[in-house]
Amino acid sequence: MEDVFTLVRLRALDLDRAARLHRQSFEPMGERGWTRQDLAGLLSSPGNAGFLLTQAGVDVGMALCRVVGDEAELLAVAVDPGHRRRGAARRLLDAVIGHARAGGALTLFLEVGADNPGARTLYDSRGFGVVGKRAGYYPRVGRAAADAFVMRLNLT
Ligand SMILES: CC(C)(COP(=O)(O)OP(=O)(O)OC[C@H]1O[C@@H](n2cnc3c(N)ncnc32)[C@H](O)[C@@H]1OP(=O)(O)O)[C@@H](O)C(=O)NCCC(=O)NCCS
Repeated sequence: MEDVFTLVRLRALDLDRAARLHRQSFEPMGERGWTRQDLAGLLSSPGNAGFLLTQAGVDVGMALCRVVGDEAELLAVAVDPGHRRRGAARRLLDAVIGHARAGGALTLFLEVGADNPGARTLYDSRGFGVVGKRAGYYPRVGRAAADAFVMRLNLT
C-alpha cells in the first residue's frame, strides 16, 4: 500500500478510535490503555491537542500533546501494530513538533520507557536528547517497573 497518510486534529467524534489505538499499543506493554473518557478529559485540558492519522480511511495512529507557555510535552504516540515501520510515528511526531512550535513552545519534552528501545530510536532520530531518568516510573504487569528517560528537543 502506498504510504500516504492523512492527518487530522483529534475531535470529540474520534475519541473511540483514538482510545482503541492507544489501548492496543500500550496494554501489551503492561500500561493502562486510555478510555474515551480519559481522552475527553485530556482533550478538555487547556493547551492539550490530539492528532489522528489515517491511511486509505483506516486508522493508523494517534498522538496527544500539551503546550503550556514555552514548554510542550508529548503525552502519547501510538501506531496500530499492523502499520508500524512505515513512518507513521515520524509523521505524528512531526505534527506535534509543528504544533508546539506554532504555539510558541521553545522545548518539547517526553518520557520513554527504558524497556522501549524502538520508541527511543524514533526520538533519537528526531534529535531528542536524554536529560533525565525517573527510576521505576512505569509500572509493568508481571515484572519490575521500568525506568523512564526524560527526553528533550530544542524547538528554536
Ligand atoms: C514506537 C511506535 C510509536 C513507532 O511507530 P512506527 O510508526 O512504527 O514508527 P516509524 O515507522 O515512524 O519509525 C520511525 C523510526 O523510528 C525507529 N523505530 C521505530 N520503531 C522501531 C522499533 N520497533 N525498533 C527499532 N527502531 C524503531 C526507526 O529508526 C524508524 O525508522 P526506520 O523504520 O526507517 O528504521 C510504535 O511502535 C508504537 O505504537 N509502540 C507502542 C506505543 C509506544 O511505545 N509509544 C511510545 C511511548 S514513549
